[in-house]
Amino acid sequence: EKGGHEYFMLKEIEEQPEALANTLRGHFQSGRIVLDEQRMSDQDLRDVDKVFVVACGSAYHSGLVAKYAIEHWTRLPVEVELASEFRYRDPVLDRDTLVVAVSQSGETADTLEAVRHAREQKARVLAVCNTNGAQIPRESDAVLYTHAGPEIGVASTKAFLAQVAANYLVGLALAQARGTKYPDEVAREFAELEAMPSAVSQVLATVDQVRELGRRMADSRAVLFLGRHVGFPVALEGALKLKELAYMHAEGFAAGELKHGPIALIEDGLPVVVVMPSPKGRAVLHAKMVSNISEIQARGARTIVIAEEGDERVRPFADELVEVPAVPTLLQPLVSTVPLQVLAAEIARARGYDVDKPRNLAKSVTVE
Ligand code: M6R
Repeated sequence: EKGGHEYFMLKEIEEQPEALANTLRGHFQSGRIVLDEQRMSDQDLRDVDKVFVVACGSAYHSGLVAKYAIEHWTRLPVEVELASEFRYRDPVLDRDTLVVAVSQSGETADTLEAVRHAREQKARVLAVCNTNGAQIPRESDAVLYTHAGPEIGVASTKAFLAQVAANYLVGLALAQARGTKYPDEVAREFAELEAMPSAVSQVLATVDQVRELGRRMADSRAVLFLGRHVGFPVALEGALKLKELAYMHAEGFAAGELKHGPIALIEDGLPVVVVMPSPKGRAVLHAKMVSNISEIQARGARTIVIAEEGDERVRPFADELVEVPAVPTLLQPLVSTVPLQVLAAEIARARGYDVDKPRNLAKSVTVE
């Protein structure tokens, strides 16, 4: 049942191209993005003037990633909130607010309560969920199912990638309803998403290299993760994987924050995983990251760089280099997250921990 793998998680990492393809399938019909159960009218979608994404853990990170795309495509303000914070605040919601509740299990207590709170305030709720008929989709106005298949490993991998893809579909559905993207642009973005399963398959070809790297990092006391733009939530996700699986101190930072505190943590030999933007995408982001890496390397950090293949400018600053295929900037998280999953799993394995069942954690958190 583990498909020849020692752990479900490793099998699930390998299933990611399929999870993405299955999640996208059927959502572009007759030139339009379609959701699953849409118990809200097209007019309701057009009237949306603000979006909240509420979720916990990795699902929250999928929302942070999607914020970049949804704001860019729709010109709607998007706030991404931990469900446990959202529900105890007094968020400003009305019938033109769309709350996107992202949950693999569809049963996470805080996310469910956030949904209930949003609906009481008359906001519309769209669930992104991996579990058919779970409570969160049942209580929502619209649903978009991720088709990652059952995820057994406690650490989210294929469900996370599928959540990112589904959140992007929500963004495209909104852009289509609002007319902020022409139909041919929506079609092009969808086609780019459809190319992602094969890009992720290419990343999976680097698994052995990353596992070997993980074994060499197993004795580290702490690992930092740095990213910018869409690479920032990827850094947070990489750090979460390492915490939950390897019980190691791991922290994700926005690279631009280094000088505001975190650079004080850099000391000789400290591993820092850097998620590089594409050199061909936004040149300014790339240049800033190269300068950040040179600064931490000069202070003794051991840099582990996830970069687009052929990125020559970053090479001199990478003590370890993991290459991922070139993809459009907004879709980079779908490739750059994968090596971080493998890294965390291998470090945990090398430390002798059960990768599928990390201590103190449950797959679905149905109590607060
Ligand atoms: O089922 P959900 O997507 O609502 O779960 C949310 C989090 O509990 C979950 O993503 C958790 O953070 C994972 N263990 C992370 O790998």
